[in-house]
Amino acid sequence: MSENEKGLEELTPKQIVQQLDHYIIGQEKAKKAVAIALRNRTRRLKLPEEIRDEIAPKNILMIGPTGVGKTEIARRLAKLCGAPFLKVEATKYTEVGYVGRDVESMIRDLMSVGYKMVKSEMQEQLKADAEKKVEEKLLDLLLPGSNPKDRKTDKKPDSASFDSSHDAESAVSDKPIPGNGFFMVPPSTGTEKTVDNSTREKFRTMLREGKLEEREVEVTVSRRGGTPTMEIFAGGSIEDLESTMQNLASMMNGSGSKRRMVTIAEARKILTEEILDSMVDMDKVADIAKHRVEQMGIIFIDEIDKIANSSSSSGGGGQDVSREGVQRDILPIIEGSSVNTKFGVIDTTHILFIASGAFSVSKPSDLIAELQGRFPLRVELTSLNADDFELILKEPKNSLIKQYVSLMETEDVKLEFTEDAIKRMSFIAYDVNSRIENIGARRLHTIMETLLEDISFEADEHKGETIKIDAAYVDQKLTGIFQNQDISRYIL
Ligand SMILES: Nc1ncnc2c1ncn2[C@@H]1O[C@H](COP(=O)(O)OP(=O)(O)OP(=O)(O)O)[C@@H](O)[C@H]1O
Ligand SMILES: [Mg+2]
Repeated sequence: MSENEKGLEELTPKQIVQQLDHYIIGQEKAKKAVAIALRNRTRRLKLPEEIRDEIAPKNILMIGPTGVGKTEIARRLAKLCGAPFLKVEATKYTEVGYVGRDVESMIRDLMSVGYKMVKSEMQEQLKADAEKKVEEKLLDLLLPGSNPKDRKTDKKPDSASFDSSHDAESAVSDKPIPGNGFFMVPPSTGTEKTVDNSTREKFRTMLREGKLEEREVEVTVSRRGGTPTMEIFAGGSIEDLESTMQNLASMMNGSGSKRRMVTIAEARKILTEEILDSMVDMDKVADIAKHRVEQMGIIFIDEIDKIANSSSSSGGGGQDVSREGVQRDILPIIEGSSVNTKFGVIDTTHILFIASGAFSVSKPSDLIAELQGRFPLRVELTSLNADDFELILKEPKNSLIKQYVSLMETEDVKLEFTEDAIKRMSFIAYDVNSRIENIGARRLHTIMETLLEDISFEADEHKGETIKIDAAYVDQKLTGIFQNQDISRYIL
């Protein structure tokens, strides 16, 4: 998966489809549409500014029965692309009897995604630098006062060190660790200057060889959350308000930090995180993230059919009103408006929206007209047949069969599926779908579970064995169930 994770911007639509092919069987039209939409944004960014602003993204509406890969396409796209990506359920904004989460929160959430993404990219670049600093820091903790820089400046706060408050507060435990007493930690008063460079270098070697991982040192751990955010004033929601209050509260009691005894291994983690945090410029991260979210961001709105006013199933006037309300609330965001977030104001004009829904009860035309117009690209996903199921079982990188084989491997049981067993399962899935209810590829999950129930349960008795699943085995486990309509209604 790692080969192409990053440079999605450079991928051609064909290559994007190829990437999606690793996970999604069929649904060529949908894959093509998302690939083109993604490519169009990189194309747009190459244009001169005046034209660039004129080109709005072509939002996509994916329509198709349940379990055929709508969400899966979105999920894979998210993993593939270097663009900030957020998936939300439209129904989340319609909770009956309560004005659901305000729709602008989706932009705030997308911005948080973008922020984290940029931050971790930057930290990745700084990692080597940070590692060096952490090593020095650990040596300071193990041998207080041994740092040559400290000695030269006679313990004046050192501007090159990343966080002077730490130097003062963290110290080595003065109790020698039992069973590990071959080196005594020098007492931290007076004698510090006697710790010479060669000791420090010896410790450095031991540290690098991993010999000190279990030693305990005292570090100052600052509480997570950092500075309290002022999002309340930036138009945050109730939830955001709550977390802000918590931040404020933790700031007030205990000044947000605390001393702890931890092993070197843990200390390294804590220090790395802190040093990395102090090394990246948060304002710069926010700037880059804002740009990326505005220009490349993608929001996937799932279950959009559930907020359509279906003419047939008029379920309580009140609910319809709230559904339509949500549609109206979403409009300006899709159209392009400014949303306040704690990282600044985000312009949503060029964010790409992909909406998806089964539209089994309602139709796209049941959405309010303005909203329909905002999703000019319609792609239909097709129902899956037995051949598709066969491929879905075998081909994807994370296919069900591969999943179960590795699960059983942990129990030292080797599963082998024959071709005709897979054919048989696909046929049964298709058959049950067409006779009872079409739940798409999700049927394969129930079938696999039923098929392997006994093996799963008795795995310990089969340690070291290879179990062959052939057509006969599938028939033995499933045919009885699937031939009886009533039973299969419940089991498969
Ligand atoms: N075309 C496909 N190729 C590979 N796997 C698929 C395909 N379609 C569905 N699946 C698998 O079936 C499961 C359900 O698919 P998914 O979540 O995409 O359904 P959906 O279309 O979003 O349905 P719903 O309308 O109910 O949300 C997932 O585990 C997915 O991996
Ligand atoms: Mg879905």
